[in-house]
Amino acid sequence: MLRVRTQTARRRLAGKTGESEKNVQFDRQVFQEVDGDTHALSTVALIVEAAELAGPGRAAVLGCGSCTEIPIRLLNENFSYVDLVDLDAQALRIVEAQCRQWADANDGYRFYCTDLTGLISQIVPRAQEIVAAATDPVGCLDDLGNLLQTTAPAFWRPPDEERYSLIVCATVLTQLQATVRKRIGTIFLNRFPHYRDAMSSDERWRRRLWNFARRLEDGFIDHLETLAVPGGIICLSATVRVGWLTKVDAQILTTDGSWIATRTSRLADYLRPWDEIIAEYEWKWPRNEQEGPYWGRLYDVQAIIYRIS
Ligand SMILES: C[S@@+](CC[C@H](N)C(=O)[O-])C[C@H]1O[C@@H](n2cnc3c(N)ncnc32)[C@H](O)[C@@H]1O
Repeated sequence: MLRVRTQTARRRLAGKTGESEKNVQFDRQVFQEVDGDTHALSTVALIVEAAELAGPGRAAVLGCGSCTEIPIRLLNENFSYVDLVDLDAQALRIVEAQCRQWADANDGYRFYCTDLTGLISQIVPRAQEIVAAATDPVGCLDDLGNLLQTTAPAFWRPPDEERYSLIVCATVLTQLQATVRKRIGTIFLNRFPHYRDAMSSDERWRRRLWNFARRLEDGFIDHLETLAVPGGIICLSATVRVGWLTKVDAQILTTDGSWIATRTSRLADYLRPWDEIIAEYEWKWPRNEQEGPYWGRLYDVQAIIYRIS
């Protein structure tokens, strides 16, 4: 069990105007117990609940990664096919090797190593051309921003166009834009390496990235409906807030606050009024992924199970 110490950003002013400083309470420290296993356990419980609600048929796990938090064997028992989709070939190979060991459950899985957004194959070659022809970084960034704004996603569909009674998208929604953004960022910085800081503080570029991300996420949520059978169940989770974690000692981590990674602070705001929300959950996910001085990140995960009308 880890304890995360958060600092409230505001000062609480007590007492009457003009009273001495001792009545002013500065940043309050709040401790929260966070269990490192909560994320995995909550994700599995979420998918089990969603699988029970879905009728028989096919299931898809979009952005499945190496399925460390996905009970795919349970899905295999409940559905005629389980389609596993991810961009990461290495992760899919790990899952495939695991499935092969389960001789009894070998047949029902299908693997698709692909970009769910269909944007990378459109944007990357064009971005390379733009950057190769560019002479100044500001103009180049502007052209890349235009490219992001004007390229329409071609979201993945299964080759046989069959629909799913269960679709699982676990912590992939905010990753969709990040994948495209990182590819573009690398192409740009290979050419203009000294523009790294300026790039991250360029207001116009940031605004365009934000718009691109939210449009892509909205489009993806709309697209899920077209992949599901009428009355199909969608199981969606996302990292809605993110904050840096610094290690104080073996048990205590501290964070100075978090930033929002989605459109609003409620994941369900992505849904349409006609989607039937069956359950909503949230939990904390401390992830040890050393970055510079930081021990890792603290994610506020939200999850929804909803039914397509
Ligand atoms: C945070 S991981 C989640 C993995 C898994 N869903 C889980 O909960 O254990 C996000 C996954 O999304 C995948 N991903 C990100 N962008 C993608 C894209 N455009 N197309 C397909 N997969 C993508 C990544 O490769 C990664 O495996």
